[in-house]
Amino acid sequence: MGRLESDETDKALRSKMKAERLDRADWYYKAQPIVLSYVQVEPLLKAKKQGQQSIEISPDLALTKVTVTLTPNGVEFPNGEHLDWQSIEKISKSEVNCFILENNTIRPIQVFSEYTNRVCSLMPTKGAPSMLIAGFVMHRIKDIDPMQDTRRKIAAISPIAGRVLDTATGLGYTAIEVSKTSDEVITIELDPGAQEIARLNPWSQALFNNPKIQQVMGDAFEVVQTFEGESFSRVIHDPPTFSLAGELYAGAFYRQLYRVLKRGGRLFHYIGDPNSKASGGVTKGALRRLQEAGFARVIRKPEAYGVVAYK
Ligand SMILES: C[S@@+](CC[C@H](N)C(=O)[O-])C[C@H]1O[C@@H](n2cnc3c(N)ncnc32)[C@H](O)[C@@H]1O
Repeated sequence: MGRLESDETDKALRSKMKAERLDRADWYYKAQPIVLSYVQVEPLLKAKKQGQQSIEISPDLALTKVTVTLTPNGVEFPNGEHLDWQSIEKISKSEVNCFILENNTIRPIQVFSEYTNRVCSLMPTKGAPSMLIAGFVMHRIKDIDPMQDTRRKIAAISPIAGRVLDTATGLGYTAIEVSKTSDEVITIELDPGAQEIARLNPWSQALFNNPKIQQVMGDAFEVVQTFEGESFSRVIHDPPTFSLAGELYAGAFYRQLYRVLKRGGRLFHYIGDPNSKASGGVTKGALRRLQEAGFARVIRKPEAYGVVAYK
């Protein structure tokens, strides 16, 4: 092959490779769209004030970083998305919403769930986001972030191994964390709206691509009745607050959780701040009903805002 020919082949190859890389980047960002909150756009506004031309920011709520270019009109992402300054101001003013950037346009990650008649949305924190359902936050966020909250719940019944039941998927953080040491996780979610929010949350992606996690859509109260007895070594029960899901705190449901748990198995039940009047009362009732359901020992786990029941 002559030099010219070889140069041309090189050029063609390089441009083919570049196109493939762009395709891959395009695919990545389509599969993983840019998601931003006030936490990620604050540095953009600062950089603009200081006249910087490029900075690193996270395109996925603090999981990874990319370098973006600042222009008089806005910000250019490496995948070609453009975010104008007006949208950046809008994101910076919202403390309760995360935004998805698609086709150069932002929209809040929020759905009205027709199934439950409730609004579900992704709520930013400095780390992993939480979910708001009907205005209630689904994780602890005061002096702790949702991921630390998740790890405390899991630590309460460690070691985690075997087959695990997670009665309320939410953003899937408990399912994702327990999947790291267990053989299989079955996780149940009632609300398709909540699942839609999880699908758009960069921190929830393992819920959809980890083969150890099996998602079941339905009411945990009914779904658990269909499981074989003594088929789980651990159960994590992290329901919404009592006023949103009272049946998940009922003796009848606790009896089902007892039935599906293996001998020697453990249940963690999140209830809420044991020092608050409301959750303190719910904790007392739950302790009694769990004992009545058959659990040999039920103890408070104030550091995880819940109780552990042993079979
Ligand atoms: C506190 S969140 C769970 C958070 C979850 N542990 C996580 O890691 O993100 C409670 C979830 O339970 C769901 N839910 C409410 N009632 C339910 C029911 N009867 N059966 C199953 N899921 C239910 C809610 O839609 C919400 O997504």
